[in-house]
Amino acid sequence: MEIKGHTAIVTGGASGLGAATARALAAAGAKVGVLDMNEELAHAVATELGGAAAACDVSDAASTEAAFAAVREALGPARILIACAGIAAGAKLVGKDGAPTPLDKLTRAIRINLIGTINTMRLAAADLVALEPLDDGERGTIVTTASIAGFEGQVGQGDYSASKGGVAAMTLTFARELARDGIRVNCISPGLMDTPMMAGLPDAVRESLIATTVFPKRLGQAEEYAALALQLVQNRFINGSVIRFDGALRMAPK
Ligand SMILES: NC(=O)c1ccc[n+]([C@@H]2O[C@H](COP(=O)([O-])OP(=O)(O)OC[C@H]3O[C@@H](n4cnc5c(N)ncnc54)[C@H](O)[C@@H]3O)[C@@H](O)[C@H]2O)c1
Repeated sequence: MEIKGHTAIVTGGASGLGAATARALAAAGAKVGVLDMNEELAHAVATELGGAAAACDVSDAASTEAAFAAVREALGPARILIACAGIAAGAKLVGKDGAPTPLDKLTRAIRINLIGTINTMRLAAADLVALEPLDDGERGTIVTTASIAGFEGQVGQGDYSASKGGVAAMTLTFARELARDGIRVNCISPGLMDTPMMAGLPDAVRESLIATTVFPKRLGQAEEYAALALQLVQNRFINGSVIRFDGALRMAPK
């Protein structure tokens, strides 16, 4: 679909992949709603882009409903959702002391990365079905963010793998469900991207992961993710796809 003139919501839009995509969408003429838990940064990005910001926790129904309503009020209903909000995580089933890891710790990533994504998808979809179709019967489109850890997670990131595998797995199913309403659903599955999230990794871990990236041997740039996200919005024949975006990296077990 055309981007110009439409409203786009970017979750996690205050930082990293989301912020780069918010900037790219604004440059392409979209009105951008920046949703993020980090209220201060969300406002900074929205102000820079002439858009709107709303603080929310994507894993919380009421807070995200209020944020969607605020953007709807400020910019009109969104035709585009880019779901980037998420956390890095890493918990083993059994702790060093032999005790089972507390369930809350093991399921936090699922709550934020997976349930948070479903939460924003349901709100975006409900707004979209109420809109008139555009060209080709398309009402709008949704792009989510998984991770290659959803396919080949390393030891110690089973919780993160579960959350991202879920995001990837639901792509085709929701694309099928929303097809009759002219809504496409696609998912980007990044490898290692140069964002504040990745900056949290110890240097040695980051270097070893870069070394196993096939080509180009470097971290991906947030602007490269944004370019792909915009292509998924614009190209009407891409639907129900999970696209690896990783320089051919296949992560080793450790
Ligand atoms: N950076 C990578 O290498 C990489 C690789 C694969 C997948 N990803 C995924 O890409 C997405 C974006 O990550 P990034 O690298 O840009 O990280 P980032 O930390 O720069 O940005 C993530 C943003 O999400 C927000 N956020 C976190 N929890 C939230 C919540 N509950 N509600 C609302 N906002 C919340 C944060 O405040 C932050 O602004 C994440 O889903 C991440 O898992 C990143």
